[in-house]
Amino acid sequence: MKGVILAGGSGTRLKPFTKIINKHLLPVGPFPMLHWSILKLKEAGVEEVLIITNNESIAHFQTMFGSGESYQINLSYKAQPHAGGISHGLALAKDFVNGERFILLLGDNIFEDSLKPYIQSFISQKESAKVLLKEVDDPERYGVGVIDEDRRIITSIVEKPTSFVSNFCVTGIYMYDSLVFSYIEKLTVSARGELEITDVNNMYIANDSLTYEMLDGWWVDAGTHESLYEANQFVYQSRDHRKGDEQ
Ligand code: G1P
Repeated sequence: MKGVILAGGSGTRLKPFTKIINKHLLPVGPFPMLHWSILKLKEAGVEEVLIITNNESIAHFQTMFGSGESYQINLSYKAQPHAGGISHGLALAKDFVNGERFILLLGDNIFEDSLKPYIQSFISQKESAKVLLKEVDDPERYGVGVIDEDRRIITSIVEKPTSFVSNFCVTGIYMYDSLVFSYIEKLTVSARGELEITDVNNMYIANDSLTYEMLDGWWVDAGTHESLYEANQFVYQSRDHRKGDEQ
């Protein structure tokens, strides 16, 4: 299976650092944030990864992670011309994915679980997409999934809910088939000026083809100062925070 990591965006919630540096290069533990996404994909057996970032940062990423040789993974890079949202960035992966099923990670999501079992269940399921959920205390920061009474299916996803609908955050770990690219073509720009991944996931729901699983371990979207600090705490507390020192 191939992997795509999104590492663009303007990182406004991490100013002032993000005036000069892409947030995915800020430290989490002794490594740049993006190290952890690459490592998770590598450990799950993904062999080819496309990193999508912005024009200003692509050279930094290439210098930092190179061809992926030190991770024993094949890395390539593509620049997103402007910060148009997750779906806008993902659209650039169409040729790379080449009609296959793949996994998409948001590079600011730092988490404990191995991706291996989730990828395996996605490969064997007939439905063409899967999301991973995590219960959170601050659902208004995320897209949240509404689950049916039997907890079997997601009936809808609401992006940044202004009143409570659920506290099951849809994490930035997504698995799709290549239908995702035709759904992206149908999207219109949201109120915050982006092509939303939540709109794509709701299209899969409308076609009864989105499954979900709950993440077991800790999970953080490290996109704010407080959550970046939290991600550092989790990483330093984990036994294997130097994992990847050979990089
Ligand atoms: C994005 C997605 C949201 C998801 C979150 C996970 O939010 O839009 O649905 O829950 O990532 O990290 P954003 O970082 O764009 O605010």
